[in-house]
Amino acid sequence: MTVTIVGSQLGDEGKGGVVDLYGDAADVIARYQGGDNAGHTVVEDGTKYKLSLVPSGAVRGKVGVLGNGCVVNPKTLFEEIDTLREKGLDPDVRVARRAHVILPYHRVLDNIEEDVKSDTDIKVGTTGRGIGPTYEDKAGRRGIRVGDLLDPEVLRKRLEYVVPQKRALIEDVYKVSLADVDDVIGGVDVHDAFDVSALFEQYRRFGERLDEEGMTVAAGDFLAETIDEGGEVMFEGAQGTSIDIDHGNYPYVTSSNPTAGGAAVGTGLGPTTVGRGEVVGIVKAYLSRVGSGPFPTELGDVDEQIEGSGEGKEYELATYIRDEGGEYGTVTGRPRRVGWLDMPMLRHAERANGFTGLAINHIDVLAGLDEVKVGHTYTLDGEVLDTVPATTERWEQCEPNLKTFEGWDDVDWDVVAEEGYEAVPENAKTYLGYISDELDTPVYAIGVGPGRDETVVRENPFEN
Ligand code: IMP
Ligand code: MG
Repeated sequence: MTVTIVGSQLGDEGKGGVVDLYGDAADVIARYQGGDNAGHTVVEDGTKYKLSLVPSGAVRGKVGVLGNGCVVNPKTLFEEIDTLREKGLDPDVRVARRAHVILPYHRVLDNIEEDVKSDTDIKVGTTGRGIGPTYEDKAGRRGIRVGDLLDPEVLRKRLEYVVPQKRALIEDVYKVSLADVDDVIGGVDVHDAFDVSALFEQYRRFGERLDEEGMTVAAGDFLAETIDEGGEVMFEGAQGTSIDIDHGNYPYVTSSNPTAGGAAVGTGLGPTTVGRGEVVGIVKAYLSRVGSGPFPTELGDVDEQIEGSGEGKEYELATYIRDEGGEYGTVTGRPRRVGWLDMPMLRHAERANGFTGLAINHIDVLAGLDEVKVGHTYTLDGEVLDTVPATTERWEQCEPNLKTFEGWDDVDWDVVAEEGYEAVPENAKTYLGYISDELDTPVYAIGVGPGRDETVVRENPFEN
């Protein structure tokens, strides 16, 4: 059977921990969208591994597949694999021959476009990994696929077509002179990034290595075979529903479909195969957000936090949640925007994904508050909405109608994790029950701390 793991909010819901937990029962863990914009830390035998492309299960002896819906930066892929090997692991990673390749010019263009937008409110705050520009080329039928790297003639032909266009784009549209520009943009050598011969040599070698190590597959065939032979497959969604290119707050989105439908399209299996399995929505018990976009239940003003100028109850609450949840950028250390759980966002996610179960994380972060609130519905133009408007501008105008729950104490969460659901504080159970009822979906797991063992498991979808 299959289990699909999907972020129900804005990414960073703690999917990694759930993939880790349930992935134990899987033989193959496949990603179906995104690329090295994702980030997960895996702890195995006390060693921490930071991965952005290699599926976390590959650290634990599972086969990791990057499906056709992914965009693959071979440089990142081999760096991660080599690092894991240096630590004595032998990850088994397969890459779809239909997946698109991130080239250095995609990264340069991603960074330049964000730079051009930097003084406007249309800046997305991308991860700068070239994700958007690669998906643009896929849709524009000028992309280079993993399978093309294995065929030098095809690779050269495609590069000869596309690279002059990229040169013209950077020089004529963005007015960046390749002769004068800094040598490195977005971590890549700008001059090689727009040079057909340099790209050809580098990417042909990546192709050779993929081939020598037998890493490429027709993802759909490979996964179908696994399932036919009785194997268990987990689909690992990256990012989250509200940054899905179709169902998220466009244009503040990533360029792929993290929603569950992506698991079919992005791996080459039918929606019936995905639908016969389980779809588990990962929910963070509050909300946090990096960068622009609507946030009706936001607490305080993040700029005041940065300046240290804030005061008042909302500011204090925001600071408390931010500190307890460690809601600071991993690289920049910048405080993230935080706020209450947003139910219209979750109802939207439940419908778009068809969740069969939920994993609700970080209830320990909210512990110790007198009251915990949720945005139950929105009011927009005098009308009550229980899901999100289709345009981001309308979404931004929504006022939340808050519902208040009694808070729960900070308890010894390790004990709770060990004793199970019975040990969860009553008021937290009421909160979880509300979410479950509103979404008409059972709660399979409750995250009570950052560690792998700090999860209360009520059901394992692979056993259903
Ligand atoms: P991109 O995916 O790099 O194009 O970035 C587009 C948007 O998605 C930005 O707002 C990113 O912050 C967001 N994003 C991309 N990957 C992740 C993730 O793994 N977690 C949370 N947000 C992400
Ligand atoms: Mg993440």
